Amino acid sequence: MAEDNLWYEGIPFPGINFKPEILRKAQEEFMIKDEDVIAVTYPKSGTHWLIEILCLIQSKGDTKWVQSVPTWERSPWIETESGFASANKKEGPRLLTSHLPIHLFPKSFFSSKAKVIYVIRNPKDIIVSGYFFLNSVNLAKKPKSMEQYLEWFLEGNVIYGSWFDHVRGWVSMRERENFLMLSYEELKWDTERTVEKICQFLSKKVEPEELSLVLKNSSFQAMRENKMSNFSMADECYLVHKSPLMRKGVTGDWKNYFTVAQAEAFDKLFQEKMADLPQELFPWE
Ligand code: A3P
Repeated sequence: MAEDNLWYEGIPFPGINFKPEILRKAQEEFMIKDEDVIAVTYPKSGTHWLIEILCLIQSKGDTKWVQSVPTWERSPWIETESGFASANKKEGPRLLTSHLPIHLFPKSFFSSKAKVIYVIRNPKDIIVSGYFFLNSVNLAKKPKSMEQYLEWFLEGNVIYGSWFDHVRGWVSMRERENFLMLSYEELKWDTERTVEKICQFLSKKVEPEELSLVLKNSSFQAMRENKMSNFSMADECYLVHKSPLMRKGVTGDWKNYFTVAQAEAFDKLFQEKMADLPQELFPWE
């Protein structure tokens, strides 16, 4: 049911387009190929932005592909029922997407040369983004208030489970050659340099004029206006609001929603859970 979550291996998933059998197959049987590029994120970290950039790098800035094919067909989510089928059908080097925590990710990846780009984002902004998104779509359990959602988030009782566990799991891959870790913040603050970093990681040579097109066509405004990228193409029954995805596209919006006490409590927990990791991994203030 759309209003409920589906539980699998102790983790909540959206109630729509997810099945335990597919989640199991995604992990045990899905064959990642050496030429695959996979965008991996915790939800609301800038997944669709990364996908748009990857598609535009592939098309050298040309908009034909991003304006004619919805995001989820260009770069299917491995773990969803429809994405699993569509990823299996794709020929040649594939662009794929996943929000899976590392322990549920396709096993075949770990012995492959496929490239993963993992984007992290300030979890306080993820909370705000997630709160509004879940109330704009009929995909999973809706929080009644920001306060309630913050509570769920801290308990890991949100889709794809604990942010802390997700990040901790994936950042353990950061020394691998086929793994690039980025943040929403660096993408936002220095988009050009970050896109160049992505091109370098993918060994893609992009001419300066192509790079400008990639930047222009993956901007917040361009994506907001592109119905193939702003989620408005989703089946109407999933949509409470017509265009739920491209909300504000800024860093630090949490300051408009968190009380001082909530922010302090969050920071304390963050310190407790993440203190042993290099703090430069987390570029937000
Ligand atoms: P906000 O809700 O804070 O606006 P995901 O794709 O992982 O679901 O993340 C969605 C978030 O990324 C939303 O954040 C959305 O606005 C933001 N986003 C998407 N495209 C963007 C772009 N081109 N530039 C900046 N932010 C973008």
